[in-house]
Amino acid sequence: MALIIPVHAFYRGRGKSQIAANLAAVLAMQGKRVCVVDTGLQAPSIHTLLGLDDDAIGFTFDDYVQSRCRILQATYDVTSRLHLDADGRLFLVPASRALSQVYISAGAAADLERLVSATTTLANALTLDVLIFDTGSGLNEETLPVLAIADTLVLVLRLDNNDYQGTSVTLDVVQQLGVMRSVLVVNEVPAAYPHSEIQQQVEQTYDHAVAGIIPHSDELTALAGSELFVLHYPQHPISRTFRQIAEVVLQGDR
Ligand SMILES: Nc1ncnc2c1ncn2[C@@H]1O[C@H](COP(=O)(O)OP(=O)(O)O)[C@@H](O)[C@H]1O
Ligand SMILES: [Mg+2]
Repeated sequence: MALIIPVHAFYRGRGKSQIAANLAAVLAMQGKRVCVVDTGLQAPSIHTLLGLDDDAIGFTFDDYVQSRCRILQATYDVTSRLHLDADGRLFLVPASRALSQVYISAGAAADLERLVSATTTLANALTLDVLIFDTGSGLNEETLPVLAIADTLVLVLRLDNNDYQGTSVTLDVVQQLGVMRSVLVVNEVPAAYPHSEIQQQVEQTYDHAVAGIIPHSDELTALAGSELFVLHYPQHPISRTFRQIAEVVLQGDR
């Protein structure tokens, strides 16, 4: 069975989609068969990062949730722009076609049974190694089922007080849901902060491992969500951090 990795954060705008997309690309470039499922119906964006144009999208995860299609009909192979030299593959299940549709369809969330069924079908039909879920934020009927099926949860936070509380609550809840392993990614750290101190402090605070620390990056902002950082700047320290996060996440493989 594929390793199931939701990328989650308590608040919006913490870098979930950036981290999910770059992590997926890193794993595919290492030869893994990877599928990203965008369950964030409120603010879909990861399809742009992964190079899938709005007008190339037919069925979506939202259509699957509402029983308008089968999950494989909402699955797109986005491998081509990765220039792989290994056997890796990257698939995407986009959340919904366009922002205009989000308002029509918002409110429907995948229940656990339907989510598990989609996961099993994708893992078997595409012989996946890894399934990455780009989740919505918060703890609600949309996100809880996705968190519940995690093998390893990647929880993204920023260094501010709100995130401290939201992250603690999330870690408590996923533990109660029976999730065996959660790792933290600290994003948008001010450039001058020493990473070793942050790592120590955050690991002590939450009693969970930090898989990576990503500084605020003007280069990342400048890509404007239209190109993957690890493809554009493969030698950049942040790309090394994405590879490090991938390595930590795979350590949870059974
Ligand atoms: N380390 C970073 N440095 C600069 N900008 C970032 C960084 N991480 C994320 N961003 C930007 O912040 C915004 C929110 O990121 P996104 O991945 O869409 O968040 P989420 O999916 O959690 O809502 C995007 O414009 C993204 O490009
Ligand atoms: Mg997002």
